[in-house]
Amino acid sequence: MAFAAISAGAPVRVLQGSRGLEDLASLVLDLKRKPRPSALDAQKRWEESLAALLADDAKRLEESLESWPELLVQSDSTGNSLLHRAASAGALQATALLLERGASANLRNQEEATAGDLAFRAGKQAVFEALVLHRVFCIRREEEEAPQEPPRKRRAPDPAAPDPYHSQRLRYEGSRLLDADSKAVMMGWEAPLMKKHAEVLLPVRGLRVANVGFGLGLVDGFLAELGPSEHHIIESHGDVLAELRRCGWPSRPGVAVHEGRWQEIVPQLESGSLDAIFFDTWSETYEDLRQFQDEVSRLLAPGGRFSFFNGMAPYSIAEHAAFCRLAQEDLETLGLPCDICKIELGELGDQTWHGVAERYWQFDSYYLPLARKAPSRDSEHPMSWRRWPQFPVCVTDKLGKALPLAEFGLSDMTSGRP
Ligand SMILES: C[S@@+](CC[C@H](N)C(=O)[O-])C[C@H]1O[C@@H](n2cnc3c(N)ncnc32)[C@H](O)[C@@H]1O
Repeated sequence: MAFAAISAGAPVRVLQGSRGLEDLASLVLDLKRKPRPSALDAQKRWEESLAALLADDAKRLEESLESWPELLVQSDSTGNSLLHRAASAGALQATALLLERGASANLRNQEEATAGDLAFRAGKQAVFEALVLHRVFCIRREEEEAPQEPPRKRRAPDPAAPDPYHSQRLRYEGSRLLDADSKAVMMGWEAPLMKKHAEVLLPVRGLRVANVGFGLGLVDGFLAELGPSEHHIIESHGDVLAELRRCGWPSRPGVAVHEGRWQEIVPQLESGSLDAIFFDTWSETYEDLRQFQDEVSRLLAPGGRFSFFNGMAPYSIAEHAAFCRLAQEDLETLGLPCDICKIELGELGDQTWHGVAERYWQFDSYYLPLARKAPSRDSEHPMSWRRWPQFPVCVTDKLGKALPLAEFGLSDMTSGRP
């Protein structure tokens, strides 16, 4: 994906450089010291810069920014920054310059859209890709700079300490599993997605599979139909376990139910003992997924497959793309190249969400990840795979209506505002 942006003219330093945020910090300090321009002057500066930007004239824009660096942190009456305007105009040189100067690609306008989201909606693929790559770079840098907890503490939370999710009552209501605040833990509209996940994980009968997170039991039902020789189910919530027992899962042939959090169960499973793994938990972050992925490379036998429910950053297509790319890079490092397959969903409609406290999905397409381990240590990897967002996330994809970020109650990892 880097190649598309670079060949389309985005300087590599936008994608890899580190100056931007430091420049921004010193800019904010400068601004505090400087006298503020009159409203008329401020408007004139904004319009001049906008004209340069819309003409994608990086030289003229640079001159404006040299004279009036405060423009980088300003926005118009709709909350659009210069970067938003450059993105929706498809002005690649201007976008590159603004990023290099420290403009935030994570800033949201009044409709909660980032510059990347606007590039996507306007069909500006090259700018979209440059902005997504820039976000990946920023997320990695934020992670490096964040204070690290001791790994053991993160890896093995105290099972005796109740967390808010596990200490609340859940309820099954038709084809929904709801928490105490009527937020949906799992919903029936996901059934076609779960079927597809099962199909890509178990292409032949007789394989050994593990699913983390039972929920409505949808994916487990589809996996069971594909005739695995071993079917492990890892589930931690008492109410879900009660439902799973009520449905008779523990006594089904080949099924082993592991009661508890994956964080405690998975380290006890034997290395190389599985051919396929599916991961779909709740109220966990990308960091949890990343820790799980470390275990996946150990657990999978050669040629094994891994997939997970891809609900990362569902409030913004640009942030979703950035996290998909991040996951692809992390999985590749673990020897698990991951392709992403686009599935058309269409609009779910308001009725789907009736009685549910939060809409947790808003895209018209679902991007299904499938990672595979090489069949043997020496073999070439058999699977061709594509980096995001070059394909299949392209700006011609149609999106559902934008929803306010606040509706999602996302973790820090996925919702970081500037
Ligand atoms: C979204 S649902 C899974 C839906 C499932 N894929 C299906 O097809 O119905 C998430 C499930 O993960 C379980 N879960 C959450 N955190 C977990 C953890 N740390 N370990 C194991 N299960 C967990 C939840 O209790 C819930 O049943």
